[in-house]
Amino acid sequence: MNRNIKSCCSRWARRGPALLLALALLCSPGCAPAREQETDTLRLGVALYTQDDTFISSVTQELERMVQEAEVELGRKINISVMDGANNQTTQLEQIDRFLDRGYDILLVNIVDRTAAAVLIDKAEASEVPVIFFNRQPVSEDIDYRERVYYVGARAEEGGALQGELVLDAWRDERLGLDRSGDGVLQYVMLEGEPGHQDTLLRTEWSVKVLTDAGVEVEKLASDSANWNRGQASAKMAQWLDWFGPEIEVVFSNNDDMALGALDAIRAWGNPGPLVVGVDATAPALEAMSTGELYGTVLNDARGIARAMLDLALALAEGEDPALAVDLQDGHYVWLPYQKIDWTNLDQFLPEGGR
Ligand code: GAL
Repeated sequence: MNRNIKSCCSRWARRGPALLLALALLCSPGCAPAREQETDTLRLGVALYTQDDTFISSVTQELERMVQEAEVELGRKINISVMDGANNQTTQLEQIDRFLDRGYDILLVNIVDRTAAAVLIDKAEASEVPVIFFNRQPVSEDIDYRERVYYVGARAEEGGALQGELVLDAWRDERLGLDRSGDGVLQYVMLEGEPGHQDTLLRTEWSVKVLTDAGVEVEKLASDSANWNRGQASAKMAQWLDWFGPEIEVVFSNNDDMALGALDAIRAWGNPGPLVVGVDATAPALEAMSTGELYGTVLNDARGIARAMLDLALALAEGEDPALAVDLQDGHYVWLPYQKIDWTNLDQFLPEGGR
């Protein structure tokens, strides 16, 4: 809803065209439903850190699909514009300026640099536009003390812990023979996401912590960042296979794209490879699980994130209490649960007929 042209009928505009028509006949002279119908478009500006990211693309696609459905359901025009920050914070700030200059109502921001949120929030606040951050979590000082600033995402440590549980289950399952060296120690390599990302730091820490807390002795052979990227992960993994070969028993990967990169390298290497686990549950990762190449993954709920953002945006646009629309915690946060996926529950996550 454009605040400048907000009218007394705006709340009703979402209740459907029939109601709008009735209102057009009944409204007082100060109320102009015909014009309202033309101008009462809700404008959502979506700023992505990069469009070139499998998981972020699925969040965006889900959001676009839900916006189309909401338009039909609510009888209201919703304009969604998506900008690609090309991994550059300056570029993204210029895009934010453009959204604000053009009178966008709500910003949905997948921030490039999670430590740079304050500047962006100041700009939005000056234009009285709410900001919903998602997936890349700004530091809490930037969120907790601001009005109409929110974060929608999943708790990074939970994703890491569930990945650790997948490996712990496999380690305890003697049929899998994970301890190939027979030394009672789990030798692993870690493919990390972008440095400084909350999911990189916490998934890396928690995946291993679950094992050590359970009394499993572990040995890290190598770890490095492959920036969420399949090609970079494949190159890293090829090098590690060269150095350590069959000594590697497990590959922890902070996301699925890098896990698939590891599998690319393992396929080229040829020998029965180590056990590989990822996070996200992207379509290609689930496919790789159904062929038995990928051992497990953790659902990062793209659909849930999109749903929560849209519900929050609609509530804010209507001036409603956001806590009535979403499960809002500490006044600012919506947390979506992760879920672990292995061969026992894979069927529930595969698209119909995917197996
Ligand atoms: C993570 C996801 C990665 C990547 C990253 C981008 O949550 O697991 O695949 O999309 O976000 O911020």
